[in-house]
Amino acid sequence: MNIYGIILAAGQGKRMKSKLYKVLHPVCGQPMVGHVTDTFAELGTARTVVIVGHGAEAVKGYLGDCAEYALQAEQLGTGHAVMQAEAVLGEEEGITIIACGDTPLITAETLQGMVRLMQEKQAGAVMLTARMSNPFGYGRVIRSDDGAVQRIVEQKDCSPEEAAVQEINAGTYCFDNRKLFAALKLVTNSNAQQEYYLTDVVGILRGQGEAVLAYSTQDTAEALGVNDRVALAEAEQEMRARINRKAMLGGVTIIDPQQTYIEKTVQIGPDTVLYPGTILKGDTVIGRDCVIGPNTEVTSSQLGDGVTVKQSVLLEAVVGNEASVGPFAYLRPGANIGAYAKIGDFVEIKNATLGEGTKVSHLSYVGDAKVGSNVNIGCGAITVNYDGFRKHMTEIGDDSFIGSNVNLVAPVKIGKGAFVVAGSTITSDVGENDMAVARERQVVKTGYAEELRVRLKKGKSE
Ligand code: UD1
Ligand code: CA
Repeated sequence: MNIYGIILAAGQGKRMKSKLYKVLHPVCGQPMVGHVTDTFAELGTARTVVIVGHGAEAVKGYLGDCAEYALQAEQLGTGHAVMQAEAVLGEEEGITIIACGDTPLITAETLQGMVRLMQEKQAGAVMLTARMSNPFGYGRVIRSDDGAVQRIVEQKDCSPEEAAVQEINAGTYCFDNRKLFAALKLVTNSNAQQEYYLTDVVGILRGQGEAVLAYSTQDTAEALGVNDRVALAEAEQEMRARINRKAMLGGVTIIDPQQTYIEKTVQIGPDTVLYPGTILKGDTVIGRDCVIGPNTEVTSSQLGDGVTVKQSVLLEAVVGNEASVGPFAYLRPGANIGAYAKIGDFVEIKNATLGEGTKVSHLSYVGDAKVGSNVNIGCGAITVNYDGFRKHMTEIGDDSFIGSNVNLVAPVKIGKGAFVVAGSTITSDVGENDMAVARERQVVKTGYAEELRVRLKKGKSE
């Protein structure tokens, strides 16, 4: 049996009070609609159609070719939205799952359960429902005396008795594809909002003698429809809890899950420990036995095994096994730190490869550089990579020693095993095993300090 997916994402989301279209608001770093397309992909839909309208270009731009699209030029309701998919899916035979782009927490397991129920019971439709202590804003599920689902009533159309019903429509459904599009033709807009409601299809199919079943989830998060920023924060918290739980069950220690923020795309090896204030984003991959945090942000970076990162920011960086970073380091795009290397406090590295065992322990900037292995870069030493117009490369050979407060004015090369004396400003290449000193010679005037004090004091009283 083929399974198709339709995701409703054409609404503006007025209640968000935002210039950003609702379904593009991120939950744990990823736009809501992206979570839904991921779930459909996990389920394995043969085709997925996203209904776009408000912000169509932005939504398409974000999702790209992971879905097909149907345009709903005017937002006349959820039923009208689904009708726009008829040109794409109308001829297909199979089951069509419909979800909203603002319900990021639905899971593939639940969708599978719904499809299974649909097949077992030969139903015309299965809808996801949940019991909410505060059902306000949701469509209510109205059942007949024998418990069968009869219809759905929207908040704005509810009588007081209907409003008291706590079982709500989660906005996720399975339909027989052909029956869905046939029933949609019968939907009218005679309701409080003068919209074509998808939810009316439930009553229509019932009237045609089809079985319409409810699939109730105990996890109300799955039914959470994000209409405003309060619900957005709830969705964020739920999603975060799920991601953290999965990481913990995979062997990661999270000292305080409430204060650890991991995006779905991040991979973390077992026995790694995350301290509070750790934020892991993008395609970050972290090996095993690492210690990350506290207060560390890692974006789209690769960390080997046994890496330590404290109080630091890493962006598109690579860090080798057993290396240590921080406290207070900043690794920018193209930073590639070798195994066993040490990047200490207040060090910034950009577009630079550092070999195994190299140490940059304090207060340095290394940008646009190739640094060998076992190099020691002293406190305050920097590469001078920019002349105001262009960036230039610095090369530093293996086993060399760069003294404190050295300026390496690029383009410049320091040979293997060379020794650059502290305080030097290096403007030309230094050969292998050479020593370079480029600073003024020191002058000492014996006993002059006392004389100086007398002179200065006199000057002050005049
Ligand atoms: C809808 C359901 C309600 C359910 C709730 C669950 C209807 C009529 N009501 O209400 O029963 O409890 O979801 O979250 O279906 N959209 C379009 N085009 C439109 C209108 C909406 O694409 O013309 C999209 C929106 O972008 C959104 C989704 O459909 O992603 C749901 O629309 P929304 O206005 O949020 O519906 P609810 O009032 O939440
Ligand atoms: Ca909604």
